[in-house]
Amino acid sequence: MRIGLLTGGGDCPGLNAAIRAVVKQGLGEYGHSIIGFRNGWKGVADGDVHPLGRSDIRNVLPVGGTLLGTARFHPHSEDGGLEAVVSTLEAERIDALVCIGGDGTVHAASKVAEAGVPMIAIPKTIDNDVVGTDLSIGFHTAVNIATEAIDRLHTTAESHNRVMVVEVMGRHAGWIAVNAGIAGGAEVVLAPEEPFEIERVVRYLQHRHRAHASFSIVVVAEGAVPAEASSMEFTQRLGPFGEIVAGSVGEAVAGEIARRTGFDTRLTVLGHVQRGGTPTPTDRILGSRFGVAAVDAAVAGRTSVMTALHGDEVRLVPFDEVAGKVKHVPAELLRVAATLA
Ligand code: F6P
Repeated sequence: MRIGLLTGGGDCPGLNAAIRAVVKQGLGEYGHSIIGFRNGWKGVADGDVHPLGRSDIRNVLPVGGTLLGTARFHPHSEDGGLEAVVSTLEAERIDALVCIGGDGTVHAASKVAEAGVPMIAIPKTIDNDVVGTDLSIGFHTAVNIATEAIDRLHTTAESHNRVMVVEVMGRHAGWIAVNAGIAGGAEVVLAPEEPFEIERVVRYLQHRHRAHASFSIVVVAEGAVPAEASSMEFTQRLGPFGEIVAGSVGEAVAGEIARRTGFDTRLTVLGHVQRGGTPTPTDRILGSRFGVAAVDAAVAGRTSVMTALHGDEVRLVPFDEVAGKVKHVPAELLRVAATLA
């Protein structure tokens, strides 16, 4: 069998563990060929092929990023993109393609599968917002990084009697904000799931600073927005593709807090730091499990399925239960973040 492999969308720690597992399981266990494509779907469209062997995966477990490279490229949105992808897959005699990516990659995979090429997806995104799986590769490491940043900000916040606003990634869901906020003991956590009232945030901080503290940590997900009832003026800065630009809401929240309270306030935008560097053991293990499961699924002739963690088990879920949806933070977790503030 010739099994294709790509990593698409934003990178994250743990991708190399998944690539390594696909190669070890596919080549080592079954004796199949693993044909890597560079830079996600773009590499498939361009025929940028990189056959993977044992030497490619040596010592990659602790290495962040993806050894295959990645790109934000959706073949179905490009003129002739799908045709180019299918033609490369035919020319390379690919029997099944394993795509490691987020919702965009799964969506693209479901379009390519319609052309008859068997597709297996592996979920990755530090945002953890892919539906159908408890965890996506990269999330655990990102929460660790964000928590460490909050811990560090605590000491400088306290020394200077400041309010520290920390903006973390999460355009559509607040998984990093809520988890790192709870783990780091943030006073306020703002997530896209619950539009916030700046008046309540300000009242809370004023009360806290009057009663017993001289510093506070406010964690904001980049996709958080003020509630309609809030008196805060806010226009989200958007990039060329309509995507939320990092720093937009963080800057607005820090500005409002400073203006309304007079507290010395600073903003830290963690940005891509959350996506870089060494993966945690949890992400390495998750990537390894998903890689093995994806190859087993391809060998078993499965198609249009995504590997998924359900409790302690790795299962396969159909694309149509996944594509185009967002996994939001549940109310219980949001409540814990709010209660422990
Ligand atoms: O991978 C998802 C994500 O990390 C989002 O949280 C973030 O907004 C986005 O990627 C940034 O992407 P880019 O690398 O294109 O700036």
